[in-house]
Amino acid sequence: MPNAASASLTAPTALVTPIQIPPLSHPSPIQLSLVIPTYNEASSIQSLISQLCGSLDTVLPGAYELIVVDDNSPDHTAKVAQELQGQLPQLKVICRQQERGLATAVLRGWQVSQGEVLGVIDGDLQHPPEMILKLWQPMQRGADLAVGSRYAESGGVSYWSLGRRIISRGAQLIGLAILPGVLGRVSDPLSGLFLVRRKSIAGIPLNPKGYKLLIEVLARGRVGTIEEVGYVFQERQNGESKIQLRTCIQYLQHLIHLRLSLGPLGSFLRFSTVGLSGTFVDMILLYFLHDPSNLGWGLMASKLISSEVAILNNFLWNDLWTFRSVTKLQPGALNRLKRLVKFNVICLIGLLLNSFLLILLSEYLGIHYLLANLIAIGIVVFWNFYLNFKLSWRVTEVKPNPKNP
Ligand code: GDD
Ligand code: MN
Repeated sequence: MPNAASASLTAPTALVTPIQIPPLSHPSPIQLSLVIPTYNEASSIQSLISQLCGSLDTVLPGAYELIVVDDNSPDHTAKVAQELQGQLPQLKVICRQQERGLATAVLRGWQVSQGEVLGVIDGDLQHPPEMILKLWQPMQRGADLAVGSRYAESGGVSYWSLGRRIISRGAQLIGLAILPGVLGRVSDPLSGLFLVRRKSIAGIPLNPKGYKLLIEVLARGRVGTIEEVGYVFQERQNGESKIQLRTCIQYLQHLIHLRLSLGPLGSFLRFSTVGLSGTFVDMILLYFLHDPSNLGWGLMASKLISSEVAILNNFLWNDLWTFRSVTKLQPGALNRLKRLVKFNVICLIGLLLNSFLLILLSEYLGIHYLLANLIAIGIVVFWNFYLNFKLSWRVTEVKPNPKNP
């Protein structure tokens, strides 16, 4: 139903820059910070909070906080939650005015939190509140991540139609196909109920789209041990789900974005695009320097200059775009100069390799010289990319200082 509520939910997200969770600057008495993202959950929020407090007070009295992050719901969920704050000092309420979206709401809550362990539970009672204590147990045993799973032992869904089950499993399968190493780590990667150790994600830029924060945490976090606890996803008693077609599109965008930013595939595609721009620079300059209608310089000198300018062009774009995430970690003119020298040397060797392959393929193997050149260029692109990926824009892993994790 296109009412005011859903209209404001579809407003474009104002912020697309990644969000970072700060590490704790000093020891905190808070052991668990649990975020409850809400949009139009006024009818459930009070019952959820009182059930959560009831169980957490038995195990973590004075050592947990609940953070409601509401997106200015028209049903005044934030106000209902704020009214509970008088009796519950452990309750924080954030009411976002500009930003929208489930995953970023959770991150904003974690950003202002103080806990060693961070968690999330839906605000509509579909996740059983008592699950938090069940998830807390593996965290106490030292797990980095504890996930509430519909597909682990004793887990399930309530009265889902066959169609809904197929859609849910289908979404999981698509995710597994695109990011097997990430989604394959847990039985229910689309879960919105989990606890994660703060140090597993602190300081890492996170950029989730839509709903699926767990995938972002699994993909980018420093997550070692994972434990799963089965639970039955309850039927909604009040309000309605906010999942829309847009949420599904965002899920796919999120998967593709992760695929391109993890590992070398995205960098390779950008590197090849830059290489193509360099070819144009080289061709135009060669024509300008060598062609008798222009400067008419010798072929060797003209080619050397045009290649070098193309290399400089490529370096600039690769440094600013292709490998920007690495460049950001190694700022300063001296670092840039070092990268430039390495890139230049690798590309010049690549140029020699290109000529060598061209002669080998055309003169000795009898392949037509244009086809031979194409093959040679293809091989050299891989050579250039691989060596530059490994040497010029290399990320050196910095081990965290054990005294200051
Ligand atoms: N702040 C904020 N902003 N909260 C939101 C937004 C938003 O844009 N969209 C949804 N929420 C809140 C809802 O109010 C609810 O508390 C929770 O996030 C889950 O949203 P639902 O719309 O109820 O999702 P669902 O029930 O279809 O699916 C949930 O459960 C699945 C199974 O664990 C989600 O948590 C899924 O991520 C999860 O896979
Ligand atoms: Mn729900």
